[in-house]
Amino acid sequence: MISWEMSVDVVVVGSGVAGLTAAHDCAAAGVATLVVSKDAADAGSTAWAQGGIAVVDDATGDTVAAHLYDTVVAGAGLTDPVAAQAVVTEGPDAVRRLRSRGAEFDAGPAGLLRTREGGHHFDRIIHAGGDATGAEVERALLAAPGLPGMLTRHQALDVVQDEAGAAGGITVLDPDGGIGLIRAARVVLATGGSGHLYSVTTNPAVATGDGLAMALRAGAVVSDIEFVQFHPTALFAGEATGQRPLVSEAVRGAGAFLVDGAGRRVMTGVHPLEDLAPRDVVALAITRRLAESPGGIDDHVFLDATGIENFAGRFPTITAACRAAGIDPVSTAIPVAPAAHYQCGGVSADLNGRTSIPHLYAIGEVARSGLHGANRLASNSLLEGLVMGERAAATIAEEIAPGAHPVSPTDLPEVRVADPGELDDLQRALSAHAGIGRTATGLANVRTPVVRSAPEDDVPVRAAVETANIALAARALLTAAAVRTESRGCHVRLDFPERRLAWAQPIELTLVDDELV
Ligand code: FAD
Ligand code: SIN
Repeated sequence: MISWEMSVDVVVVGSGVAGLTAAHDCAAAGVATLVVSKDAADAGSTAWAQGGIAVVDDATGDTVAAHLYDTVVAGAGLTDPVAAQAVVTEGPDAVRRLRSRGAEFDAGPAGLLRTREGGHHFDRIIHAGGDATGAEVERALLAAPGLPGMLTRHQALDVVQDEAGAAGGITVLDPDGGIGLIRAARVVLATGGSGHLYSVTTNPAVATGDGLAMALRAGAVVSDIEFVQFHPTALFAGEATGQRPLVSEAVRGAGAFLVDGAGRRVMTGVHPLEDLAPRDVVALAITRRLAESPGGIDDHVFLDATGIENFAGRFPTITAACRAAGIDPVSTAIPVAPAAHYQCGGVSADLNGRTSIPHLYAIGEVARSGLHGANRLASNSLLEGLVMGERAAATIAEEIAPGAHPVSPTDLPEVRVADPGELDDLQRALSAHAGIGRTATGLANVRTPVVRSAPEDDVPVRAAVETANIALAARALLTAAAVRTESRGCHVRLDFPERRLAWAQPIELTLVDDELV
């Protein structure tokens, strides 16, 4: 089954902001590091990030305490304040190091320009290229000297473990259909999110929950999986499914506002911050307004950005996406609707990225660090990737001596696959029953594709592996969403509309004998 194998000290799975930051720092500490990425190096969500990075600059009057407050409020009672304090406090230095690696942010005579997004009480979000922040972060990290070797178009399949259960490497599917074994003393999952559980998402095609599924199959604890953040303003495109262009919250930060089909403001009277309320509040308000439309037939609202001066100059990426869809945002309100955007939960990890499996780390969107709670504050994700990438690398460098001999994995996992032809039905069912507004009956009615072991003589294909991963991630989501009989943050139960104090704790799941417990 294995066609090749190699050994390194650390294998980092994923080449977004979290993985690349960790890889740079591990390599700088003299640890032999390899990055494995299943597509082009810049195919993850990082390169698509628009609004920016939330980070405090004391000189502007902002404070760490204020950023912490906004993060905790957005998290709807489930943010771990210790995790949030660490990320927010270490953010400014992490951004300084990113800039020293070559990332350039938009600046004026008084320093970096800062904007505001939903849930923030301060203009603290730095950006690049107007609305192309992630592309600049990704470019800089890929171009910075010292980046260790990378295998692109290699899909990690599973974590391999020793007899005691500790991670000892990964199996990968190479571009020729061969399966490789990469032995490593430490495995870092930085595989990003899972937007493609749903029919419509802002996420690129690689966001199929691979790391989450790998961790579950390895026996790791995952938590907060029910909290899927829907971005309120993805560009609406009728029945089209798949990745939709985002219309950044920074557009509302610059003064745009939401109106329904009849021209009435959506956010007036809903929240004191109106159009800049936390994202879960805005996405739910849009969903409710659409349901209230005559016959409930409206499927989008409008973002009126026509009052923003120099819109095309400030938001070139969004302008291009709108114009490609035949909309001129300078003169016309933009049709928008919520789309799956961010996985708030993930593989449970401590503040150094360590998971419940020895030698297995999880950082960035795949992880549940405790920063986001039940709803992530806008632009806190790139920040988390930077800080947690650094923290994980520092811990790994401390834990292993360079050149350490990796453990020998026993029992290589079988490759798990499912029929990609079943994905569309699953995505539609999850969109209908596990999106914004869930009920016990709806959740119970979602059927996930059958997952099986790939026959040894069959070359597994990426789509079949991804479908199996989505199926397992969906099971975890459905299980957690059914258990949480309350509404909190991104998790809205129509049959349990109130927030309940008893539920102010994370739901943790592990996979035992293929059952989620
Ligand atoms: P990613 O950047 O998604 O990288 C994941 C990597 O893992 C990719 O290289 C992928 O190919 C690889 N991978 C996945 N599975 C496998 C596998 N099986 N084997 C090998 N490799 C694998 N956040 C902000 O803070 N500010 C913003 O302005 C912002 N805007 C956003 C706009 C959009 C359109 C989107 C989609 C997200 C936005 N976010 C924003 C969220 C943020 O971009 C992501 O949460 C963050 O970039 C995730 O970084 P990451 O390193 O964890 O994962
Ligand atoms: C946006 O620009 O609206 C996205 C910001 C984020 O997801 O943090």
